Amino acid sequence: FMYFIYAIVIGYLLGSIPFALVIGKVFYHTDVREFGSGNLGGSNAGRVLGKKAAIATITLDVLKVVAAVAISAQFDAAASIWAGLAAAIGHCYPLFAGFRGGKAVATMFGFLLSTAIFTFQSAWYVVIPFLFFLAVLKLSKMVSLSSMVAAVSSTVYILIMQHDPAITAASLLLTLLVIYRHRANIARIRSHTENKITWM
Ligand code: G3P
Repeated sequence: FMYFIYAIVIGYLLGSIPFALVIGKVFYHTDVREFGSGNLGGSNAGRVLGKKAAIATITLDVLKVVAAVAISAQFDAAASIWAGLAAAIGHCYPLFAGFRGGKAVATMFGFLLSTAIFTFQSAWYVVIPFLFFLAVLKLSKMVSLSSMVAAVSSTVYILIMQHDPAITAASLLLTLLVIYRHRANIARIRSHTENKITWM
């Protein structure tokens, strides 16, 4: 039982590292919370700071979840699933940035990538949501919509193909978190005012 507590604490603390904020402040002397959507995530880092910052933010946001899952998997494979979930929650409600963070997109991807490796999932478990993300992005140009569709596709895949109750529960919670964190985006999509990317 203690392993679960450690995993959740490690996950939450690693997830709480606000890379969009750190990269913005250190390399661009800019607080990305004051511009664009104000979100501490890869999309807004890209919007405010540019492509390099987006790539760095997304990569580090994915890796912090991978690190949480990998560390926790050293003592307990089951606990590592909860470390990944806790990392995504930490990303959305970060201890180190006033509990106002991101929208759990890169971190959900990190969760899928790392739990795929440490709990031996099929590659489709990661590839399906990624393909849905790219397809919807190509069609809609909206990162928010693509992210929500990808999250739902992942949970549908898991509900059909996966029988591990912890993975199923965690992915369901993550998808609900992704959608909940996109409330403002959903309102903008409905009023046709959502931000669109210009480079795809
Ligand atoms: O990175 C999260 C993305 O889905 C939406 O972010 O900044 O466009 O609200 P943003």
